[in-house]
Amino acid sequence: MLEELSSYKNKKVLITGHTGFKGSWLTGWCLMLGADVVGFSLPEPPTSPSNYELCDLASQITDVQGDINDFESLNRLIQAERPEIIFHMAAQPLVLTSFENPRETFGTNAQGTINILEAARHCDAVKAVVCITTDKVYENKEWLYGYREDDRLGGKDPYSASKAMAELAISSYVQSFFRPEWHGDRHNVIVASVRAGNVIGGGDFADFRLVPDCMKALIDNGPIVVRNPNYIRPWQHVLVPLGGYLLLGAKMLAGNPEQWSGAWNFGPPEMNGISTSQIAEKLIEQWGSGEWICENPDADKLETSYLRLSWEKAARKLDWRPGYDWEQTLADITEWYKAWNNDEDLGKLMQVQIQRYSDWVNAGN
Ligand SMILES: NC(=O)c1ccc[n+]([C@@H]2O[C@H](COP(=O)([O-])OP(=O)(O)OC[C@H]3O[C@@H](n4cnc5c(N)ncnc54)[C@H](O)[C@@H]3O)[C@@H](O)[C@H]2O)c1
Repeated sequence: MLEELSSYKNKKVLITGHTGFKGSWLTGWCLMLGADVVGFSLPEPPTSPSNYELCDLASQITDVQGDINDFESLNRLIQAERPEIIFHMAAQPLVLTSFENPRETFGTNAQGTINILEAARHCDAVKAVVCITTDKVYENKEWLYGYREDDRLGGKDPYSASKAMAELAISSYVQSFFRPEWHGDRHNVIVASVRAGNVIGGGDFADFRLVPDCMKALIDNGPIVVRNPNYIRPWQHVLVPLGGYLLLGAKMLAGNPEQWSGAWNFGPPEMNGISTSQIAEKLIEQWGSGEWICENPDADKLETSYLRLSWEKAARKLDWRPGYDWEQTLADITEWYKAWNNDEDLGKLMQVQIQRYSDWVNAGN
C-alpha cells in the first residue's frame, strides 16, 4: 500500500507546522522517502522538550521560521522555494487554549489556511495542497454511525469552529479557483482536506493530553490521574493518519483531480473506540509498573458525545488501511518514552518506528 510513497524522492515538500508533534513525524517520514523538505513554523517548537529537537530534524531540512498569519512572508517563501506539494498543519490545535485565545485560534486556523491557498494560487510549481483539519469539523448530532465526508460541518468551541471555517474556505477555493474540470487549463493545483482525531505517539509533550500525561506519571513513578475513565475515543497512532496524508498526496501529485480533490477521513481500525482507562491500564502493563487513579469520580460516567469517523472512502478509493491496532500503537509509544527516559538516539528510533509501520502496512496487516 505504501510503496507508492517512493514518488516523494527528490520532491520539494513544504510542511507547515513541522516543529509540532505531527509535523515532526511527517518531516522525518518525508526525509526517509528522500524528499527535499522545507518547514515553516513559529520560531519556538510548541513544547519543550519537543520531538523535532530531540530528533535533530532542523539540520536535515530548510527550516524557516515565521507566522502563517503573515501572508507576505509566506507568499515570498513559497515563491522562492517553489514546493510541488504542501502539507498544511500549522495551527493552534488545542480546544482548551481556544477558549483562552479564540481570536488567535480563529486567525491562525482559518485565515492561515486561506493564506496557504492564496499563496499556492500564485505559484505555478505547486501541484497539490493537503490541508490538515480535524474530526471535530463535523456537527456532532450524537449519531452512532461514523460521520462521512459530506456530512454537515459544525463546531461549538472556537477550535472546532475555526477548523470548520478552514474547511469552508478550502471548499470555496476549490469551487472558485481549483475546480477539477479546469485542471491543466486554468490551474495545476489539486486541493484536499484531511480529517482525523485523537492522534497519539512518541514525542508528544502537549498539556492536557492523555498519553503525555500517562507517560510523565510513569516516568516520575507517580499515579496516572485519569479524569474520565470511561471516555471513549478513536485513538490512533500518529503514523496512521500521516500514512493516509502521504498516500493521498502521492496520488494527487500523479494528477487526476476528480479523484482526489475534496475531503478525506482517516481513523483507527477499532470502529468502537477505546476507553481512557483501557489506555492507562495497557500503558502500565507495557511499562512494567505503575497505577492509575480516578481524580473525579463524578466524571466517571459514560460519555455520549463520542464522535466516530467513517474512513470507508479512503479504504475504497485510496486502498488505504490504518495498520496498527491500539495495542501495537501503545507498544510503540512505550518503546519511545523508555528510549527517551534512557537518553537513547531518538532520531534513529523515529526511523525504526516509521520503517516498522511501513513494513507492517505493506505486509497487509
Ligand atoms: N494532535 C492531534 O490529536 C490532532 C487531532 C486532529 C487534528 N490535529 C491537527 O494536526 C495539526 C498538527 O497538530 P499537532 O498536534 O502536531 O500540533 P502542535 O501544537 O504539536 O504543532 C503545531 C505546529 O503549528 C505551528 N504553528 C502554530 N501557530 C502558527 C502560526 N501562527 N504560524 C506558523 N506556525 C504555527 C507550531 O509552530 C507547530 O509547528 C494541526 O492542524 C491540528 O489541528 C491534531
